Amino acid sequence: MTDANGATQSPGGLLRFITCGSVDDGKSTLLGRLLFDAGMVPDDQLAALVRDSAVSGSVPGGAIDFALLTDGLDAERQQGITIDVAYRYFHTPKRGFIVADCPGHEQYTRNMATGASTADLAVLLVDARKGLLPQTRRHTYLCALMGIRKVILAVNKMDLVDFSADAYGAIVEAYLPLAESLGITQIDALPVVAIDGDNIGSSSSRMPWYLGPPLLRLLESAPVPTPGTCAFRMPVQWVSRPGPQSRGYAGTVASGTLAIGDDLVLLPGTRTARVSGICVAGEPAQAAQAGQAVTVAIDRELDISRGDVLAAANAPCEVSSHFACHVVWMGEEALLPHRTYLLKLGASTVNARVTNIKHKVDVDTQAQLAATRLELNEIAYCNLETDAPLAFEPFETNRTLGGFILIDRATNATVGCGMIQFGLRRSANVHWQQVDVDKQLRSAAKGQRPLCIWLTGLSGSGKSTIANLVERRLADAGFHTYMLDGDNVRHGLNSDLGFTPEARVENIRRLAEVAHLMTDAGLIVLVCAISPFRNERQFARERFGEGEFLEVFVDASLDTCEARDPKGLYRKARAGDIKNFTGIDSPYEPPEQADVHLLADHADPVALSEALYGIVGKRIRGG
Ligand code: ADX
Repeated sequence: MTDANGATQSPGGLLRFITCGSVDDGKSTLLGRLLFDAGMVPDDQLAALVRDSAVSGSVPGGAIDFALLTDGLDAERQQGITIDVAYRYFHTPKRGFIVADCPGHEQYTRNMATGASTADLAVLLVDARKGLLPQTRRHTYLCALMGIRKVILAVNKMDLVDFSADAYGAIVEAYLPLAESLGITQIDALPVVAIDGDNIGSSSSRMPWYLGPPLLRLLESAPVPTPGTCAFRMPVQWVSRPGPQSRGYAGTVASGTLAIGDDLVLLPGTRTARVSGICVAGEPAQAAQAGQAVTVAIDRELDISRGDVLAAANAPCEVSSHFACHVVWMGEEALLPHRTYLLKLGASTVNARVTNIKHKVDVDTQAQLAATRLELNEIAYCNLETDAPLAFEPFETNRTLGGFILIDRATNATVGCGMIQFGLRRSANVHWQQVDVDKQLRSAAKGQRPLCIWLTGLSGSGKSTIANLVERRLADAGFHTYMLDGDNVRHGLNSDLGFTPEARVENIRRLAEVAHLMTDAGLIVLVCAISPFRNERQFARERFGEGEFLEVFVDASLDTCEARDPKGLYRKARAGDIKNFTGIDSPYEPPEQADVHLLADHADPVALSEALYGIVGKRIRGG
């Protein structure tokens, strides 16, 4: 039998764990020794290891350097191959294991969070000579944050403290309250000498005072947490059609059990159905449980799509589009509040943004710090909103329906992961008010089609000049317009915003929302703002209906703009008197596919405005 990972299933099930500790604590040695004692090092590899150990001379007395078994990854890393987390499978007659190994001297938060996110248990190494260090606290905090509830504290290098039971006891005694304060309540501890194998695969005769089992036995007997204690939930991964009449909904059961005849509710929403058939691994079954990949048939036709969640009708999970959550940031570029990312939770993918960073957390001390953005490896407690409601569970109760990842929309890279603490009531209590006089009526009364004309470009490129001329022409022709100029709006609505990237994101968001309201009022809106980031211009575009948004790139080079310098700002920026100036020490991301591209280096603004007026005129006539 094999499970979803292709790993052979053992009677004791599969245990996923992570090893934490820096290289100096003996993490690689411990892992290498564990693999050896589990019988996972074949003879030829062992022979090579003996040879390599002799050559490296890293271990005195001609002993085997087990760290070499896992350090191969560091070599690959030095060759520029990025391996953030390595997963190794091994097994004993009792059970299979997947261990997440985060190589490298510095265990960055990103790597550890990734490894811990799927682990049931952590083996945390402490050097017996050094005792608890700030990193012990950091590793424990990260494990707890990522949902690990069980830790095995391995006090290593006991030979270097003369196998002292007192030294060991003092470390364990100090660790227990620390771990408990961070939410880890299931703790086993043991003294080891990883390099010699004491208490790794078998009990050590050098520490007879330790009466517990060796590490491998502890790992073999650790209970695998069962998500099955919660009610039934299954995110629908895909919809299949086993027969002409029937549809099957396939996915992995995230929690609970399911039997034919059970009543289900389809979330988000209130539609219900009854289970009429179940397939497990392609075979018809009467029931299924958490962790199994199943196909469910129901007794009626419902429009179910990927990302919807099937849940027990008598105990449905919550649905919300606003969440309080922790976010671990893994992106090279900072997380900016109000920037749109893709969020993946269960089988759904939706647009999402952090609306408020309540505080960031110092990983070493857990102190709460003020923050306006989040850099790589930082963690924060945030409010987050999604464009569509999601069925979820608190991460504490269900990792599958409470844990999400954030994806950069341009690069498709995973840039963060998050853990939902609870849904915010706001989303349930605020409704869209329908009104009788709608956009169509308003624009028909004005005899025009509403449009947002969004001019982007460097400061001094001529956006406002061109927009002003176009608006003049539109007004003369009897159209109803409004010009939202970045500088002007910054005098009132946006007077609280400066020019940091996060302030610009918010500036553009507000401009887009106001422009959206104005098109809803039936107006033709001209927005002039540097709007330097693609992501936010895309956000602006998505606020509008098809054909109602026109991105105009006013393309003048930095040299031209700097030579013009109409407000003397480039000169000040060069002199260092203005910080974060676009084009100087703050980036401008030119549009890749603007609807209109105006080459503004040499052309006369009147000619450019005429060209733009011609394009705009075709879109707005007749309402
Ligand atoms: S945006 O980047 O957030 O879109 P916006 O268009 O609203 O900027 O405002 C830009 C205007 O503010 C510029 O035309 C310029 O007059 C002024 N300004 C003052 N400081 C800066 C700065 N650091 N960077 C860019 N523009 C600045």
